[in-house]
Amino acid sequence: MDQQRLHFFDTTLRDGEQSPGCSMTQHEKLAMAHSLADLGVDILEAGFAIASDGDFAAIETISREIRGPRIASLARSRREDIERAGKALEKAARSRIHIFLASSDIHLQYKLRISREEALDQAAQSVSLAKGLVDEVEFSPEDSTRTDPDFLCKIVSVAIEAGAVIINLPDTVGYTVPDDYSAMFRMIRERVPGADKVTLSSHCHDDLGLAVANTLAAIDAGARQVECTINGIGERAGNAALEEVAAALHVRADRYPVTHGLKLDHLYPISQQLAGTISFAPSPNKAVVGSNAFAHEAGIHQHGVLSNPLTYEIMTPASMGVPANRMVLGKHSGRHALRSRLEQLGYHLGSDDLEAAYRAFTSLADRKKAIYDQDLINLVAHHERHE
Ligand code: KIV
Ligand code: ZN
Repeated sequence: MDQQRLHFFDTTLRDGEQSPGCSMTQHEKLAMAHSLADLGVDILEAGFAIASDGDFAAIETISREIRGPRIASLARSRREDIERAGKALEKAARSRIHIFLASSDIHLQYKLRISREEALDQAAQSVSLAKGLVDEVEFSPEDSTRTDPDFLCKIVSVAIEAGAVIINLPDTVGYTVPDDYSAMFRMIRERVPGADKVTLSSHCHDDLGLAVANTLAAIDAGARQVECTINGIGERAGNAALEEVAAALHVRADRYPVTHGLKLDHLYPISQQLAGTISFAPSPNKAVVGSNAFAHEAGIHQHGVLSNPLTYEIMTPASMGVPANRMVLGKHSGRHALRSRLEQLGYHLGSDDLEAAYRAFTSLADRKKAIYDQDLINLVAHHERHE
């Protein structure tokens, strides 16, 4: 196993899809699956086979048509779920069943109403059953971050003994913080026999806005699979945003010496495709793919970026597939940005005319929130008429 190779596990079509406003038709899931394969994700969680006939059919079609990533289906730790997942994945070139079973006392007591001993039995039986149906089995002790550490080690060790080769430690409710999350991965590596032979995986939710930070902390502590979604969609506040994790690894390659198979310039196009498929786009200030992620309005920033983009951009827009940065003209903008935009529109003003245009522009910008190209054209034409 290459210790430096990080595997991107995309769950846009499962954890992402199961959140409000994000459901997709079978056809839309297949189109997204093609783009995720082109992006270069290593594992594509196509759905939850037992959840609905539609999800089963989507997993089946994706398994038949998509080559490249391993195809995964989620399953509870139950015979019927596992058999249904195995069936949906039959045509996949490389298949994975992802079994989850709650391990925190609060989930065992109030949700599953089973004892810890029963959970251990279920984990062993379900992993053994799944092992016979697919190429590989992933096991997730749900709510790992609120699970008693001794019991977490126990259930992980039972799953490994039964044949799980990927152990995912989900922060199901977005409760953990980076230091605690990395400590949990270190604990599993130190205390669980066989943990050095399996791939450890992170799965973070963003309830405290820490999903990406926690994911990076897990990588630091040896996780070599990260579970993410495009645009960070997912239950409640969402999952770790794939594009943000990928961008952090790119910008801070000095800090994270891992390799992966993503084509980073596919990130913005796939973000746009997802936004066009579901009911919402990422917020304008969303890192990497939001409409303001490479936009500059303040005059000082615009001057800096026009002189050398590295002054205020830590990655090039092109590296993330964003067509270009944007100089937004508003009341904070300066003469440099105004001149640059006017030149793009074909107006090359001398310094007096530019000064007059700038004065007219700032007074207009005080009245209007955004200044469009047509406003600038009108402004120059008005100035010329009155000269
Ligand atoms: O958040 C979670 O715990 C999950 C599991 C099914 C892995 O999505
Ligand atoms: Zn989740």
